[in-house]
Amino acid sequence: MNVTRVSILAILLLAFVPREAFNVKAQLDYCVGQVTRTAAFIPAAPPNLPRNILNGKTAWNYVGYKDWTSGFWPGTLWYVYEYTKDPKWKAKADLFTRELTPLAYQKAIDHDLGFQMYCSFGNGLRLTHNPAYKKILLAAADTLATLFNPNVGTILSWPRPVPNMEWPQHNTIMDNMINLELLFWASKNGGDKRLYDIAVSHATTTMNNHFRPDHTSYHAVVYDRKTGKKVKGVTHQGYADNSMWARGQSWAIYGFTMTYRETKDPKFLDFAQKVSDVYLERLPADLIPYWDFSAPDIPNAPKDASAAAVTASALLELSVFVKDKTKAALYRAKAEQMLETLSSANYQSRQLNNAFLLHSTGHKPNNSEVDASINYADYYYIEALLRLKKLQAGKSIQSIR
Ligand code: GLY
Repeated sequence: MNVTRVSILAILLLAFVPREAFNVKAQLDYCVGQVTRTAAFIPAAPPNLPRNILNGKTAWNYVGYKDWTSGFWPGTLWYVYEYTKDPKWKAKADLFTRELTPLAYQKAIDHDLGFQMYCSFGNGLRLTHNPAYKKILLAAADTLATLFNPNVGTILSWPRPVPNMEWPQHNTIMDNMINLELLFWASKNGGDKRLYDIAVSHATTTMNNHFRPDHTSYHAVVYDRKTGKKVKGVTHQGYADNSMWARGQSWAIYGFTMTYRETKDPKFLDFAQKVSDVYLERLPADLIPYWDFSAPDIPNAPKDASAAAVTASALLELSVFVKDKTKAALYRAKAEQMLETLSSANYQSRQLNNAFLLHSTGHKPNNSEVDASINYADYYYIEALLRLKKLQAGKSIQSIR
């Protein structure tokens, strides 16, 4: 039986088995409680951006603005402000957002600028229309664009030697798809129109080179920096070069859905569905992936709740775009099931620590952040909850409140 048939059966079963409605508001209130406790312990001076709570520990580890995850804490605060409308959260979000300002004006150290600036300043601008944020975001987009290599057609993700990337050849990682959102935004809000072309070129080149015939993704692709020819597809954070690293596939689901939103080009919508379908087909029963779909010690391998949070948020948006009603309902139902599982005692941190979620895996091959609480899991979890709340109220997920 293929995934569509199994899923239609599951949707029908869910429709007829009485169960408690998923209470989105209760989960958002939980997030506000956890953020309140986290905020109470934050150091006054940098490094003061919460990044992770390691397995078995209770205290956050903090990073400074240069860390690739620096935008997620201010971004989470903006989401809490969006939900509560309480100006106290706006003030806190502003404070931490501004810490990242230098990134817009320094030489780009990698592609993560989009994660850093769009989650912080991007959400801030969306909610406040502060012109100072807009100026900084436009500068950040220009800085990110300096990493674009026209010979290849993609952004150089890591402009430095990284094992297995054959430096100084050109490398692009799947995660880089998310950073295109900053370029799309800038091209439509006073920035150079070339930024739009760069984003489309990056997405198209990635679609053509980063996937195996079954639509599972390579984490990284190395290109000849002069000819643009693909040298090889490899992994960095996954189990093997030819395995599906869970968060990498989640970035693909989110990235191609967002690229369709920004371009309205149907080839990206079709592709977003293909990369989603293979991920959904291969998930374990609770819909939270192991850190890599080919991890050798499944079912004892660590899970990655962050991948589930990213995917849930992306599938909610995809469900709005897909015209086929059955398919759209499937994506929405899967996203809701993922959020229900993440909101259970198995995955919420609750009294164990002040993050939202347990059981994310950052970089298993380096044995770093394994089965931990991590800031980007929390960011995409609260984003997905807010998206679901808006959909339940009949609003667009892009709407404010
Ligand atoms: N580099 C982003 C990630 O770990 O997913």
